[in-house]
Amino acid sequence: MRLLGKIFSKKEEILPALDMSIFKVDMHSHLIPGIDDGSKTMSQTIGLLSKLEEMGYKKVITTPHIMRDYYQNTPDIILNGLAELKNELATLNLNIQVEAAAEYYFDYAFMQQLQQKEKLLTFGDQYILIEFPFHAKPSKIDDLLFELLMQGYKPVIAHFERYLYFDDCVSLAQEWRDKGVSIQLNFNSIFGHYGVEVKRQAERLIDAEAIDFAATDCHNIDHLLILERNSTNSYLHKLSHLKLKNNQLI
Ligand SMILES: [Fe+2]
Repeated sequence: MRLLGKIFSKKEEILPALDMSIFKVDMHSHLIPGIDDGSKTMSQTIGLLSKLEEMGYKKVITTPHIMRDYYQNTPDIILNGLAELKNELATLNLNIQVEAAAEYYFDYAFMQQLQQKEKLLTFGDQYILIEFPFHAKPSKIDDLLFELLMQGYKPVIAHFERYLYFDDCVSLAQEWRDKGVSIQLNFNSIFGHYGVEVKRQAERLIDAEAIDFAATDCHNIDHLLILERNSTNSYLHKLSHLKLKNNQLI
């Protein structure tokens, strides 16, 4: 009887589809056409923005990759792409606001740009989105974060849950947050889209309330459809109850 009781008490409550308008602003995506591995054409971008608006978003801050070995984007390339996109939007019946920053890959070129105090693309109040390699932990992460903070930037670590080389991800996230670094989580990590280990790290971070931003990291329509299909997920609901900074970017 006790076992049966345990089984029944474990049965999950069925939750409604989460209304994504609660997040207001998506601050990590790849929607400038043709400049990275995200949207390939203007019409794809318009389709993605229509979907994001339908989901309830008010603003998208799109963040093309800047990665010396693969995507040699510059602020000019990104801002020109944004201007073309805004021209296109002006002819359409879409109300979603669009801004652009970048997702900076932590490589030697980025460190050089930072040290030479080149203009870097930020969003909101001096936030800068940074990603690390997935395969191996880079050395000198602490130096990078220190330099960014010293120069007045507020580093945001993109999809922090995806770096499986951070053994105790919750302690590290808390340690960095105490120093002024923000932690960003991808929604689709919660649903196992990037594997079961990433899903577990995402759940640990949500349970510990160690997240500052949540984002789609949308490269294509599949990313939004996966999110929509999983809108009743209990961890997505739990995430929506955290004090996130997304809606401060409106
Ligand atoms: Fe990204």
